[in-house]
Amino acid sequence: MLLPVPPPLSDLIAAYDASAPLERARTIPAAWYTDPRMFDLERRTVFARTWQMVGHTDQVRAPGQYLTAEVAGEPVVVVRGGDGVLRGFFNVCRHHAAAVLTAPAGRAERLRCPYHGWTYTLEGALLGAPEFAGVADFDKRDHGLVPIACATWEQWVFVRITPDGPALEAFVGAELAARVAAAGLGRLRWFERRRYTLACNWKVYVDNYLDGGYHVPHLHKGLSSVIDNTAYAIETGARWCEQSSPLSAGGDARTAAVRRGDRARYWWLHPNFMINAYEGVLDTNLVVPLGPDRTEVIFDYWFADTSPAARDRNLESIAVSERIQDEDVAICASVQRGLRSRAYEAGRLSVRREAGEWLFHRLLHRSLADGAA
Ligand code: FES
Ligand SMILES: [Fe+2]
Repeated sequence: MLLPVPPPLSDLIAAYDASAPLERARTIPAAWYTDPRMFDLERRTVFARTWQMVGHTDQVRAPGQYLTAEVAGEPVVVVRGGDGVLRGFFNVCRHHAAAVLTAPAGRAERLRCPYHGWTYTLEGALLGAPEFAGVADFDKRDHGLVPIACATWEQWVFVRITPDGPALEAFVGAELAARVAAAGLGRLRWFERRRYTLACNWKVYVDNYLDGGYHVPHLHKGLSSVIDNTAYAIETGARWCEQSSPLSAGGDARTAAVRRGDRARYWWLHPNFMINAYEGVLDTNLVVPLGPDRTEVIFDYWFADTSPAARDRNLESIAVSERIQDEDVAICASVQRGLRSRAYEAGRLSVRREAGEWLFHRLLHRSLADGAA
């Protein structure tokens, strides 16, 4: 039996018209959400070439503190050196490529590979290679951990695994940095991390996030009852989108009890990081592609008060967030099924609501077109 030949990747990328204005724009083609070749290309371009959030600054305050993560499918580690400098490396031993550090986070005197015991300093230099006497043309100085770019913004640690590109400060941009700084999120303390696996492409989740409150009144009745959706504002910058809405009094009591303040503010930083802030309540979302139709979303929950006395209230806030998340998980799976249907090729965008999605699609197109060239 002959299987249909998929079109060349370049045709698939060219099928999106990035020059159309919003009122004429179409969404990215359905095949971008389902084709395994797109998943690989995105790893090499979108994820390898952008700053990726890997943890928070409290995890790496003291010399020897480290955190590990995976970026674009590659293991990375961030460690505070004995000199106080925060550095990023590929978490790949120079001997036979095992992960040098295996815990999600911790503290070490030196970095010891569990496989054959090679050790590295906190600054990444190879210190010891047992039973390696007599190996020709082997210089320890050439076998340190391979460095990657590492920087912090607010309370978050970011890395970029390709050497070239803008500094994190320029990547975030002064405008977004000022808006987030004004929210004073640094006062909040980390409380808990939860992970959710979704049966959809990672872009379905980002699209859903960036639809400007379009789906909120239909899908999230509880949330919808406490925000004034008619006054929902959407602004975009070079690589970010801010969505914000005044919070209204009344509405669902359970939601209102933990979603307070004058406004809800939702920031997205291209391609996959979201910051959701209410008064004294913050969660971040990191969207991690696992496969063409499998995605993990990592939620970190932060609160103004993380004392034992505030525990029940914080857990209630997370429960409200999880109810919304459950609603999104179900709709994202539904969208993924629809994207696989022969009935659907691409859609249109609401001018009032979907400028964030439009920005996301154009940024993706640029990265993929550059990467495929
Ligand atoms: S792979 Fe690390 S010591 Fe061999
Ligand atoms: Fe939602």
